[in-house]
Amino acid sequence: MPRTPSNDRRRRAASMFAAALAAPVLLLAACGDEPPAVVATATATAEATPAPTQAPTEPPTATPTPTPAVAFDPDLHRLVDKERALPEGYEPDDLVALPPEYHAPEFGGLMLREEAAAALDDLMAAAAAEGGLDLRIRSTYRSFEEQVRTFEFWVEFLGEEQARRESAVAGHSEHQLGNTVDFASEGAGWELIEEFGETPEGRWLAEHAHEFGFAMSYPPDSEDITGYIYEPWHFRYIGVGAAAAWKEDGRPLILFLEDLAEQGE
Ligand code: DAL
Ligand code: ZN
Repeated sequence: MPRTPSNDRRRRAASMFAAALAAPVLLLAACGDEPPAVVATATATAEATPAPTQAPTEPPTATPTPTPAVAFDPDLHRLVDKERALPEGYEPDDLVALPPEYHAPEFGGLMLREEAAAALDDLMAAAAAEGGLDLRIRSTYRSFEEQVRTFEFWVEFLGEEQARRESAVAGHSEHQLGNTVDFASEGAGWELIEEFGETPEGRWLAEHAHEFGFAMSYPPDSEDITGYIYEPWHFRYIGVGAAAAWKEDGRPLILFLEDLAEQGE
C-alpha cells in the first residue's frame, strides 16, 4: 500500500495546485475557453424527487410493501467512477455561476448546474445561520480539459500511483457532472486535506449535507470500494430524497447509486 504523503506535503501540493489551477479565469482565458457568463439566480427548489402518489381511502388488504424512497434519475444519478466514464464531450448545459462570497480565498469562477446551485444556496444559508461556521468552496464544475490538467498536476507532484488514489482521470470525475462541490474552511488552511473533516465546517457537512441533497462520495475506509482516499470535502448533489435514502443506507455513494440504477432498469 503506498504511503499517504504527509499533510505538510499535501498542503504544499494543494497550494501549488491553487497557484497552477486556481487562477481559473486566467487559465480559462489562456486556453480559449468561455469564461463563466451566467449569474446565479438559484430560484428553483432543490428537490426534484416526486413524492409517491398514494392516497389510500380504504384500509390496505395486503401486507404493505416497503416504499421505494427514490426513483433513479439517469441524469442526476449517473454512475461515474474509475470504471465508468462520462460520455465523450459531456458538458452540462445549465451551469450557473456561484456568488463570489462562496469562493475560498484566491478562488473564482466556480459554477454548478442550476438545481445543485439552488440546493447549495440553501446549504450555505443554513451553515451561515449556525454561527461560527465559515464554509467556502474551492472547486465545483471542472470540464474534461480542466480535469486533464488537474490529473497531470497531481501525477507530476505525487507520481502516478498516488495521483490515481486522489484524482480522477479526465472523463471519470464527478466534478465534470457539474453537481459536485469541494468545500474548504480556514481551520484546514482552505486546503483539501483530511483535517477538513475535523473542522467545525467539515463536521457540520458530514452531519447535515444530505439534508440539502449532497452526499459525501469518498468516506473514510472506503478506498477499496471507491478507489479514492477519504475526501471529507467532496460532496455530490443527488437530490434531497436520494441523499436521505443514501444516508439511511449507510454505504458508499457508488454502491447506493448502483442499486438505485438497477431498480430503475
Ligand atoms: N478527487 C476526485 C476523485 C476527483 O478528482 O474527481
Ligand atoms: Zn472533489
